[in-house]
Amino acid sequence: MMEPIRVVVTGAAGQIAYSLLYIIAKGDVFGPDQPLILHLLDIPPMMGVLEGVVMELADCAFPLLKEVVATAEPDVAFKDVSSAFLVGAMPRKQGMERRDLLAANVKIFKVQGEALDKNAKKDVKVLVVGNPANTNALICSKYAPSIPKQNFTAMTRLDQNRAQAQVAAKLGVPVADVSNVIIWGNHSSTQFPDASHAFAYVNGVKKSIPEALKDDMWLGNTFVESVQKRGAAVINARKMSSAMSAAKAAGDHMRNWFQGTEVGQFVSMGVLSDGSYGVPKDIVFSFPVEIQNKTWKIIPNLAISDFARKMLDTTAKELEEERAEALEIIGA
Ligand code: NAD
Ligand code: LMR
Repeated sequence: MMEPIRVVVTGAAGQIAYSLLYIIAKGDVFGPDQPLILHLLDIPPMMGVLEGVVMELADCAFPLLKEVVATAEPDVAFKDVSSAFLVGAMPRKQGMERRDLLAANVKIFKVQGEALDKNAKKDVKVLVVGNPANTNALICSKYAPSIPKQNFTAMTRLDQNRAQAQVAAKLGVPVADVSNVIIWGNHSSTQFPDASHAFAYVNGVKKSIPEALKDDMWLGNTFVESVQKRGAAVINARKMSSAMSAAKAAGDHMRNWFQGTEVGQFVSMGVLSDGSYGVPKDIVFSFPVEIQNKTWKIIPNLAISDFARKMLDTTAKELEEERAEALEIIGA
């Protein structure tokens, strides 16, 4: 029997966590043989609701779930964790951009960075979901200097899943037959969903997406815009932000991080830029990566068209502006 690992989910009484905890506890993220101790963090007024979530986790009778620690204390929540899903933060409402949440949310990630630094395992893998996710991840890593920078990531997997689903629908093929759609940049309306390096199996034959679709207008306009604005479209329809799909994406991200990617498969993750593809350093930017032995590596040498260059520069500039705003808010 493997030793249990400790996994923390923040915002554990919220919408996303309600779907995410099920996915984790069932074994879909860390594998069917990996026992778990779940740490659930929320704020003091939510402790009553959290108690209900704890009851439901018990009532699911998950064989892998060995213990649940529910708390409002960051020092307890982050103690000895190997994996951290930082979900707890305010969601945006209709008419807002995710960046409008910086003032409300960035301080949370300073406090949680400090708590991770003090309490977590030094190889903890941190996924920031709370918006604006890229800049919150950057701030979190700055306040956890004893943990390697590459252990802090932001979620753009939901955008990747959305993009993959849209390409599959347009082509009329199963979603699993489309691979390597890339999300570049910020999890915001400046992100660049890029299908130019992606491929699909159409009637059993592997084809690049531009070749299979033969519709550059759709790929450069409708597709890009609909993925950029999908989060807002869900909010307009549900009056609440995406939760089931966000939880699924968070599980996908952490599963690939722990269990690796398939040969030839790229996944997109917000990671600290090392200057690849001419992207400025010291921002958390979504790149295509491959993962082995729990270590991600940016896919090198992809061709970047003039159009792509402009899109990468625009989203990088927004991230530099967000960084400046965030540092001002936390008084750094
Ligand atoms: P929610 O309001 O339903 O839940 C958030 C929970 O976080 C609440 O229970 C709240 O009490 C808790 N919380 C607030 N401050 C906290 C703190 N300091 N420590 C611990 N918990 C705290 O919101 P949700 O729908 O679950 O969304 C959570 C966040 O995820 C939002 O910021 C949302 O915009 C973001 N989001 C990101 C993506 C993405 O793709 N990156 C997708 C969907 C949602
Ligand atoms: C999403 O992409 O659905 C989330 O980031 C929520 C939002 O604010 O759009």
